[in-house]
Amino acid sequence: MNFRKPFIGILAVMLALGGLTLVACQPPKAEPVKTYTIADGDFDPANWGKAYPLEYDLWLKTKEPKPAGFSKYKAGFDQQNTHYDKLSEFPYMPLLFNGWGFGVEYNEPRGHYYMIIDQLEVDPSRLKAGGACLTCKTPYAPKLMQEMGMHYFADPYLDVHAKIPKDFQRLGVTCVDCHNNKDMGLQLSRWTLKTAMNAIGVNPDQLPRQEARSAVCAQCHVTYMVTKDDHMKSSGVVFPWAGSKPGNISIENIIKVIKSDPHNLEWVQSVTGFKVGFIRHPEYEFFTNNSVHYKANVSCADCHMPYTRVGANKVSDHNVTSPLKAGMKACQQCHSQSPEWLASQVVAIQDRTISVMNRAGYAEAVAAKMFEAVHKAQKEGKTIDQALYDKAKDLYLEALYRVIFIGAENSVGFHNPSEAGRICGDAVAMANKAESLLRQIMTKAGIDVPVNINLEMAKYLNDRGVKKLKFRPELEFKDPFGTQEMITPTASLGK
Ligand code: HEC
Ligand code: HEC
Ligand code: HEC
Ligand code: HEC
Repeated sequence: MNFRKPFIGILAVMLALGGLTLVACQPPKAEPVKTYTIADGDFDPANWGKAYPLEYDLWLKTKEPKPAGFSKYKAGFDQQNTHYDKLSEFPYMPLLFNGWGFGVEYNEPRGHYYMIIDQLEVDPSRLKAGGACLTCKTPYAPKLMQEMGMHYFADPYLDVHAKIPKDFQRLGVTCVDCHNNKDMGLQLSRWTLKTAMNAIGVNPDQLPRQEARSAVCAQCHVTYMVTKDDHMKSSGVVFPWAGSKPGNISIENIIKVIKSDPHNLEWVQSVTGFKVGFIRHPEYEFFTNNSVHYKANVSCADCHMPYTRVGANKVSDHNVTSPLKAGMKACQQCHSQSPEWLASQVVAIQDRTISVMNRAGYAEAVAAKMFEAVHKAQKEGKTIDQALYDKAKDLYLEALYRVIFIGAENSVGFHNPSEAGRICGDAVAMANKAESLLRQIMTKAGIDVPVNINLEMAKYLNDRGVKKLKFRPELEFKDPFGTQEMITPTASLGK
């Protein structure tokens, strides 16, 4: 008896009433034809490609430039496949990140093909953590970690990189990272994610199919801490998930874990002198935290690896990229609207996110500069109200992690729009409260408080290194409060 059809019919009616029209919810399963046996421990994608040439050819295409003009915030690429400087798009970032590598060079992502190449080309200040940086870049990471132990994390990046077999030193994420070689079932290769899943009570070896189609991405598209030993040498790569629940790894809990141990603090923010942690690309945490799509059982692969026809076959598109740069085909598996309409929804969500994210970023930058002024006054002998100061610092740090989180999340809010609004809204309130406490502290201590705080943004943006970076003039800086001087990034940072 076929009882699925009426169920799908009812579902379609319910969803149509809900506003958006959906055509199908579960992706079909493609049936590959296997023509070659992959040996155990074979990392070479060309060999896997002999068995599965269609997926292999698509995977190779992550090297190709993606068309420009479709994605507003994650630009496509010119023929040189240049990637773009994030710090000039959001000039509060170089101010807040001044003091370490992310304040020197922080780029928008591009195709998977480039992940190691981009590390080899990035400003060396970004690789100071050492071999730990290879953890979500090379398929050899688990092997190197096992062989080298603590040295894998702490030894200089280039020393550990040199231990990768010559032919694969530029090879990024590959078949063996997501698949087992026997039946091509999805399989996690990273200890980092397995440990983190165990910590929240999920068995990484028994994931339902839709969960696995996101989990393979969560090996890398998550935030992590490069933990430090007492001498500030890297000692591990850990996801700050302890105490969270599946489907609810919240920003609040991530911050709590980072703050729980000084070994999680990786850098010193130079404007304030505070030792702090960092948050990187938290796509998985953000998406799975009660988003509409996650709740509807949609996976990362549904939107970033949709089924695509190659000749007579249907395969998962291994040319992983933004749906906007791929004609919105992914969305049309489930939504019946036109690509233009769907794209306009994405951009509308992103515009709203950017608006409130910028407010949070600049409010936080103002608070940072006020801490700088307070610290200067203290050095000059002024006494300040310690209780107010502690409260201001706490609010400032809470806001800082939220600002970093939303700026690092790569969908610009789309993966979970209402959560983006909540996080940014909280950050604005916290940064503003910190500012008003700092004003009180300064007034009480007899320190002169200007109405508008000069952020000196041009200094932080343009005086940060010697590399030539690529700017996007169409995203030129706009100060949401209208109090800062306009700055235009200089075309070259060369000194
Ligand atoms: C980032 C993770 C990732 C990488 C890297 C990757 N795949 Fe996949 N692959 C997937 C996902 C997700 C699916 C969908 C599986 C499912 O729905 O059960 C898939 C499906 C497949 C399938 C099943 C048929 C299909 O197209 O759906 C084959 C065969 C395959 N991949 C081959 C490869 C080969 C060969 C490579 C290396 C050149 C590779 N994959 C690299 C994630 C990956
Ligand atoms: C081994 C780590 C790793 C895994 C696994 C991984 N990614 Fe990535 N991904 C990266 C890195 C690193 C970049 C940025 C590369 C660069 O800019 O050099 C990236 C870039 C991307 C981009 C931007 C591509 C573009 O054209 O601009 C998308 C989209 C993406 N990943 C989605 C996914 C999805 C979906 C999955 C799971 C199916 C996945 N990734 C699995 C590490 C990974
Ligand atoms: C419902 C569809 C959907 C799902 C599910 C989804 N994404 Fe996305 N993702 C998008 C859209 C739309 C964007 C915005 C792309 C743009 O602005 O060009 C995006 C952006 C990204 C980017 C940046 C792309 C770029 O070109 O720089 C990455 C990386 C990414 N997603 C990874 C993931 C990961 C990992 C997951 C699962 C945890 C996931 N996505 C789940 C639709 C989705
Ligand atoms: C696997 C199926 C699937 C895919 C693929 C998918 N969606 Fe959805 N989408 C849904 C479902 C289910 C809902 C919830 C429907 C509802 O409540 O009306 C939804 C809801 C939405 C909403 C409303 C969200 C909200 O917060 O209210 C938007 C906008 C949307 N999708 C856009 C997109 C875009 C753009 C893409 C491609 C990048 C996409 N979807 C891909 C299934 C999907």
